Formats: sequence, C-alpha cells, structure tokens
Amino acid sequence: MNPAFPIPPAQLRLSVAPMMDWTDTHCRVFHRLLAPHARLYTEMVHANAVIHGDRGRLLAMDPVEHPVALQLGGSEPELLAQAARIGAEHGFDEINLNCGCPSDRVQAGRFGACLMREPQLVADSVAAMIAAVPASVPVTVKCRLGVDDDHDWDRFRGFIDTVAAAGCGMFVIHARNAWLQGLSPKENREIPPLRYDWAYRLKRERPDLQVVVNGGIATPEEAAQHLRHADGAMLGRAAYHDPYLLHRLDVAWFGGELRSRGELLRGLRPYVEAQLARGVYLKHIARHLLGLFAGERGGRAFRQVLSEGAHKPGADWALVERALALTGPDARADAA
Ligand SMILES: Cc1cc2nc3c(=O)[nH]c(=O)nc-3n(C[C@H](O)[C@H](O)[C@H](O)COP(=O)(O)O)c2cc1C
Repeated sequence: MNPAFPIPPAQLRLSVAPMMDWTDTHCRVFHRLLAPHARLYTEMVHANAVIHGDRGRLLAMDPVEHPVALQLGGSEPELLAQAARIGAEHGFDEINLNCGCPSDRVQAGRFGACLMREPQLVADSVAAMIAAVPASVPVTVKCRLGVDDDHDWDRFRGFIDTVAAAGCGMFVIHARNAWLQGLSPKENREIPPLRYDWAYRLKRERPDLQVVVNGGIATPEEAAQHLRHADGAMLGRAAYHDPYLLHRLDVAWFGGELRSRGELLRGLRPYVEAQLARGVYLKHIARHLLGLFAGERGGRAFRQVLSEGAHKPGADWALVERALALTGPDARADAA
C-alpha cells in the first residue's frame, strides 16, 4: 500500500454512489446495516446551500454512517472551501467535489460535468477546500471521462494530473462521457458508452492515485472484476434497486455471515422507531427499502404493501412486519 493514499484501501473497495433524492441519511443508515464496510456518499449539496441553507436537513447524518463522504457541487473556490469546512465540522469523513453531473441546472451554474473542461478551476477549488479542512479529511473528485465528443486520453489525464497536483489523491471515475447537449441526466447515465479501460489505464499510469470505478456495475462478478484493475467499485442504481447486493458484496469481500433479508431489515427497527418518535413519517424511510426483496418470492407484494401503506397517517413498524410476512419463508425464518 502507498502510505500517501488518502483513504485506507479497505474503505475504498466498495462504495455506494452519491444519488440526489436517493442517498439521504435514512437510505445511508439502511445501506450501512447491509454493508458495514462500504463507503457511503451523500446526495450532492451545492456549496451555497451548505453555507446559507438549512444545515440540519441538508447535512443530516447519523453516526452509524461512517465512513461517509459529503458530496459538494459548485465551482467557486472560496464558497467550496467554506462548505467543505462546514462539512468537516459536521463530521463527514471526506469531501467530494462533483465534476460529473450533466443536468441543465448544473450547466447553467457552471459546475458538475462542465468542470471537466476547466481543470485549473477544479484544481483551485480542490486546493482551497484542502486548505479549509483538517488533513484527516481527504478532498476527492468524482468525474466522467470527458464531455461531449472529447475522446482524447491526454486531455482526460491532463485533467486528472492538474487536479492531483492540487492535492486530490482519489478520483471516482464514472467511466463514460457526459453529453451536455440533447440528453437528459437519466439518458446521460445510459447512452454514452462505458469505457472502463480508461479508468484502469489511469490506475496503471498513475499508481499513486486511488481510482474507483463507477458506472453500470450490476453484479458481484462485475464488481470483483473492477477490483483487479482499480482500488474500488462504486455502485449506484444497482445498490439502490437491489440493496441486498451490497450485503452479498460486503460478506464476499470482508467476511462475516450472510444474513437473511428479514434479519437485516429487523435490524433497522430501532432506527425506524426512533425516527417515528421524532416525527419522521415512515414513508421517508420505507421508500428506500422497497427493493430489498427484488427478484425474490413475495418481493412485489412486499414493495406494494410498503409503498401503499407507508404514507398513511400512523404508519409504523407493524406495516413493515406485514410486508415482510408476504415474503418467502427463508426471509422470515429468523422472525423475532
Ligand atoms: C437518481 C440519481 C441521482 C444521482 N445524483 C448524483 C449526485 O448527486 N452526484 C453525483 O456525482 N452523481 C449522481 N448520480 C450518478 C451516480 O452517482 C452514478 O455516477 C451513476 O448512476 C452511474 O453509476 P451506476 O450505473 O452504478 O448507477 C445520480 C444517479 C442517479 C440514478
């Protein structure tokens, strides 16, 4: 291991991608239960929102989530530095800068993926963020391979080198281009072709950097394949829609007993009840649980009962048990 690596390698092997509207604190607490060794990422929060907005909500985080990274959006070094400092003070273990989001809103604000065309601005931002946080909190970048029709390896590596020279030692590579014209953000996660070989080549040519591969990873075999060439695999949609995949990966890579879906879910009960007691509605937590039985017997019924019942007044843990009762016997074998 390179002693200069900013993140302990074991903490980087498996991570769950930052996903707006999805990876909120409830979701992350659930994912932590399934995958004790995964690195978790918040939704992207704009630096301005961190500075001026409702921090209690935007930076909500439960201590069980560690290690957890705050992802920031923005392109003004001073604002990003302030937001990074606030994030570190809130206890986040890493501050990640979004250089991969292609939405129109983001382009208008000149951040996200269009920053790939402004390596020096990203480097200045990273340098300012590093200066603002303790040395124990790494500042990292999540980016694409390029934007639009950039297919020039030297340009991509030039971006990485410029940002690395400012002190960023870890890059999450969403291994496709972002097309800034004509594609929705959703299409931008599906249509530009994946080119994992660029992420692998980056790791080969820059072994002192930590490189995490992201994009389209859907099975344990695919995730394992990336570990042969890079420092980690980051899963987004597959982890969200089939969260048990996270558990299987965690057990395969870090050891421990494979626990049933039902047992894992019941582990969430104290958290859910504490949140309900604080006035949080069950629907805000239950929506992240819907995929737990994806592809399993009773999976559809589980999903339906939870999604139809969780928004009703007074919905509580009993609803989760009702949904669980509709799943296959293996899931329920460990009933309390
Ligand atoms: C609903 C949704 C929201 C997302 N929000 C963010 C975000 O806030 N920041 C970010 O860097 N990427 C965001 N992404 C992109 C993911 O982090 C990831 O790069 C992408 O989905 C590809 O990985 P996957 O194929 O494993 O899902 C989002 C993706 C989805 C599906």
